[in-house]
Amino acid sequence: MKYGYFDDLQREYVVQRPDTPAPWVNYLGSPEYGAIVSNNAGGYSFAKSGANGRILRYVFNQFDQPGRYLYLRDNASGDFWSASWQPVGKDLEKYHCECRHGMGYTRMLAEYSGIQSEAVYYVPKDSAHEVWELTVTNRSTERRELTLTGYAEFTNHSNYEQDQVNLQYSLFISRTLFDTNRIMQQIHGNLDAQAADEMVDGKTVTERFFGLAGAQVASYCGDKDAFLGRYHTYGNPKGVAAGDLGNVLSYNENSCGALSCVVELEPGESRTVAFLLGMKPSAKAAELLQGYRNAADRCEKELKELKEEWYGRLDHLRVDTPDPAFNTMINTWNAYNCFITFVWSRAASFIYCGLRNGYGYRDTVQDIQGIIHLEPEMAREKIRFMLSAQVDNGGGLPLVKFTHNPGHEDTPDDASYVAETGHPAYRADDALWLFPTVYKYVAETGDKEFLDQVIPFANRDEGTVYEHLKRAVQFSLAHLGPHGLPAGLYADWNDCLRLGANGESTFVALQFYYALRILKYFAEDRGQQEDCRWLENELEEAGKKIQALCWDGDRFIRGFTEEGERIGAAQDPEANLWLNPQSWAVISGLASEEQADEAMRKVFDRLNTPYGAVLMDPPYHAHAFDGALAVIYNPGTKENAGIFSQSQGWLILAEALLGHGERAFRYFTENAPAAQNDRAEIRRLEPYCYGQFTEGPASKHFGRSQVHWLTGTASTVMVGCVEGILGLRPDLNGLRLAPAVPKQWKSFTMEKDFRGRKLHIRVENPNGKESGFTSLNVNGQELASNYIPEKLLTAENEILLVL
Ligand code: NOJ
Repeated sequence: MKYGYFDDLQREYVVQRPDTPAPWVNYLGSPEYGAIVSNNAGGYSFAKSGANGRILRYVFNQFDQPGRYLYLRDNASGDFWSASWQPVGKDLEKYHCECRHGMGYTRMLAEYSGIQSEAVYYVPKDSAHEVWELTVTNRSTERRELTLTGYAEFTNHSNYEQDQVNLQYSLFISRTLFDTNRIMQQIHGNLDAQAADEMVDGKTVTERFFGLAGAQVASYCGDKDAFLGRYHTYGNPKGVAAGDLGNVLSYNENSCGALSCVVELEPGESRTVAFLLGMKPSAKAAELLQGYRNAADRCEKELKELKEEWYGRLDHLRVDTPDPAFNTMINTWNAYNCFITFVWSRAASFIYCGLRNGYGYRDTVQDIQGIIHLEPEMAREKIRFMLSAQVDNGGGLPLVKFTHNPGHEDTPDDASYVAETGHPAYRADDALWLFPTVYKYVAETGDKEFLDQVIPFANRDEGTVYEHLKRAVQFSLAHLGPHGLPAGLYADWNDCLRLGANGESTFVALQFYYALRILKYFAEDRGQQEDCRWLENELEEAGKKIQALCWDGDRFIRGFTEEGERIGAAQDPEANLWLNPQSWAVISGLASEEQADEAMRKVFDRLNTPYGAVLMDPPYHAHAFDGALAVIYNPGTKENAGIFSQSQGWLILAEALLGHGERAFRYFTENAPAAQNDRAEIRRLEPYCYGQFTEGPASKHFGRSQVHWLTGTASTVMVGCVEGILGLRPDLNGLRLAPAVPKQWKSFTMEKDFRGRKLHIRVENPNGKESGFTSLNVNGQELASNYIPEKLLTAENEILLVL
């Protein structure tokens, strides 16, 4: 079943049926000021931190309420409705609506009883406030008088938990005031603050505002209970029904901002007003509202700026293939998802309520990969930041605090770090993610000097980027298990697999192998002969060990526990085939051709489903070893044989590297949100963003996806598609073009910005191949292979690859 469609021209997803199987949301704003809004206007806002800067209340795990509500009331009939279908929820026979989620804005269109409304929610570029622009048009033949009401439910404390849980305190620190065109809410207002968020005697005084521009306030309300009326709901607030909010303010009650204005419209006439919300002192709020006097013009200008910014980012790669779902994901939605994940990490969604107090090392370093081909400079700054969170022993800080202070941080070796972050020890994989990420950045940009930039370590000392990478290798070498493979330490990528500090993970061993290859490639390019010899030896050693210990005849095992038990071997009664060691054996370059074919065929036969491949099979139930934490989950869920979407990206990449375009594309399609638009009732999540996992065949809800938006999937699938399926594989000196596509793709094009040049690439596939090379022509010159040395490129380049 479909609930909407992709409007690719506008880069919008259009929700046509508002009764979606879950709230389908969009992100607005920046880390300065963030907002999440659903297709029914549910959601919340926050300044800087979802947990500690919460401005709007949202009740998680409930009915997608409250939200940014805009009510319309016909003053002649007394009938009222909302600009989004909910919260009033009029009969859909009479109420026609669509919600358009775009890049950094959401637009709600509705028509009811001859009145058309258009509400646009956005955070202007480089701003720390949000705008709810509301335009109403009289489509009837009579003159109409309407009362328009905006409602924002403030939290009583900027800390999400204090607001929700510590009521004996938070109910009694908040109050609201009214002035001219705005409600102000003060938290700790008794402390005589001059400014929003000002510290007085160690306590924060906070001022929020909800204001109206473009019309006179007719009535207001600052008290949630008074606004709703006893035993009323958001669907029928007393003040909205009455057309008069009663001019009540709060003092020791739940605060809100509700403002009404009255507009009169001749037939065909339109009127635009704007509600503004933010955290600013009253005088600043007043000044800001002044700037929106001419609401329609100001909002139009701001929306244009927002779109230009987003389109500018996304336009660095444009593809036109025979598959619309692939195009929409790569050109718009997967790319947008990558930026959202890059910016918000795992901080705020309808599942993450903001309580994570930092960046997970592995997650953040991986998230960077998804935007490198679009915004390498932005990526570079985050890479630098993450390198500065690498300890001088080469390991990564499992959690990088939002207050991270390079050179001065405690580490997992300090009790203070463990107490503060809850992370008891180093994880085996964290710093190893740096290798593919740094490689991708340097290869995309050709910025080899980056490797010489000096960056501090988290706790003390500093070193070049190259030195940071060397220390990451040394960290793994200093922590080897009994078989000589990198030790499991606290965990590897899989949070639910504790092999023991001295256990050994095949996944980490393969990452390590890959890291050695990348570092050796850098060393060769830099002419560092001694390092080359060292790395060559380590590579040989690691390769031999992995081959001898981890290959089980037809699959790579998952690893060894501290006690030496083999995990993921063929004869295990449960979890005897794992996905990641197979795909990573290919990605790392360790697997022989035969091993790769055998292992990947096993994956296809045993792990694949119509929704993607499960993480392992069979799920843990009765035979979980002590460290198999996955058993805590229901079978078919998350790490216990769920379809862990992040791993789909590696699977796509691995198949594409092997030249298996058919399978690579099949794996993409099975799990791609856009490709499931017409089975939205099964998938449930937004058809335009990835979820952390899809429930596997062992679940009662096979095919249902969970944990929307903030997932490493965005970047792994993006990499799988761009490097894998599209075959855009830059290296230090040029670009290899090695697409792996479905045989029926006759041709496709790519417009790519690359190192300051424009590439206009056309790929033709006259003989129905899934990969390979017949000819490559660059600006009229035939090349001998599918590799384009950078020196051949000019400002504009016409490139034709024939498979
Ligand atoms: C989600 C975590 O955020 C990520 O760090 C981890 O790698 C995956 N779960 C797999 O366990």
